[in-house]
Amino acid sequence: MRGYIIRNASQTDIPAVRAMQERSMWVLGGDFYHASEIAGFLTEFGTMDDAIVDEGHFFVAESDRGALIGSGGWTRSRPSYANGLGDEGQYTGEPTVRSVFVDPAAVRRGIASAIMQRIERDAGEHGIRTLHLTATLSGIALYEHLGYQAEKAMTVCLSDKTRFACVSMAKQLPKSREQAA
Ligand SMILES: CC(C)(COP(=O)(O)OP(=O)(O)OC[C@H]1O[C@@H](n2cnc3c(N)ncnc32)[C@H](O)[C@@H]1OP(=O)(O)O)[C@@H](O)C(=O)NCCC(=O)NCCS
Repeated sequence: MRGYIIRNASQTDIPAVRAMQERSMWVLGGDFYHASEIAGFLTEFGTMDDAIVDEGHFFVAESDRGALIGSGGWTRSRPSYANGLGDEGQYTGEPTVRSVFVDPAAVRRGIASAIMQRIERDAGEHGIRTLHLTATLSGIALYEHLGYQAEKAMTVCLSDKTRFACVSMAKQLPKSREQAA
């Protein structure tokens, strides 16, 4: 038994999900970003846009003990961080993976991969052929492992001019059996 399930998130999950995401960003993101960059990003943009939960494509990993230890989903909605992308980030409404985080106490157990597998399956079932994402530096190794290709380096510019580095990436999803038939 793997010790957790992946399920659809609900609005009531949001406080616990956000606390886990912020812990994740501070601990795991701390190997890649200065504390001031993390603090600025969390204050200005946060770890997730709550509204996307109601779209039905946002998932959490819940441990056997009921703790929320991972998150992630996809949406066509404009991310809040797009405000900081300037000219580079002209957002065109493509399906985008959002808010993939794992609790620091639960990393390297395949939880993010399981969430991404669920996201890709769900997106495929909704006719999506290509998934996009903006990877934090701490997320690049995961996404490369899952077959996403880097497109270009980007920076989210915070209002105090701090620059938060990230990379846009994309993956073409395999056709499902039904689509291939
Ligand atoms: C990135 C993150 C989601 C990965 O979660 P995870 O559950 O540990 O990932 P997985 O166990 O599914 O990793 C699958 C593979 O991805 C790669 N990978 C994942 N994290 C890695 C890391 N920190 N360093 C190097 N490779 C890594 C490895 O190939 C890994 O396989 P392996 O463990 O057999 O070597 C997690 O570290 C995290 O929450 N980081 C902070 C938040 C963040 O940056 N999220 C991305 C937002 S865009």
